[in-house]
Amino acid sequence: MKEIELIRKHPLYLTSYRRLEEAEQNRQFCRHQMPHLLDVARIAYIQNLEKRLGLKKEIIYAAAILHDIGKACQYEEGIPHEIAGKEAAEVILEGADVFTMEERQIILQAILEHRRRSDHMTVLGRLLYESDKLSRACYACPAEKECNWSSEKKNTEIKW
Ligand SMILES: [Fe+2]
Repeated sequence: MKEIELIRKHPLYLTSYRRLEEAEQNRQFCRHQMPHLLDVARIAYIQNLEKRLGLKKEIIYAAAILHDIGKACQYEEGIPHEIAGKEAAEVILEGADVFTMEERQIILQAILEHRRRSDHMTVLGRLLYESDKLSRACYACPAEKECNWSSEKKNTEIKW
């Protein structure tokens, strides 16, 4: 997907991704690199097809690979990663020159929304939130006991 490669190769994406990789290299809990980002993208795309949400594949993948890009800022500076991530994603989407203004806004809004469920979420925001949670294999995680996720968030069986 041309748009996704342009995002992934943008200098700010590369530096943010490397910072995050370094910050998480000794982390025992869930990490936020490509395996996670692509699990989210693929679960979201399957749901998009099954629920006939009608979202473009490229938009789903863009939101998925960008949604945790602010994590290094959260670790290092205490800025919530949905805020830092939305700001970085805005620069990356503009620099990569992908999508229309309206499509970029849909992606940015979904990044902002992806951490907590609310009654007023956008379609992509809800999809990203749910796919993010569903992507975690808590049932097979050696650190599950120490993880601070609430029991209703944890996945105790394979669903996707
Ligand atoms: Fe995530």
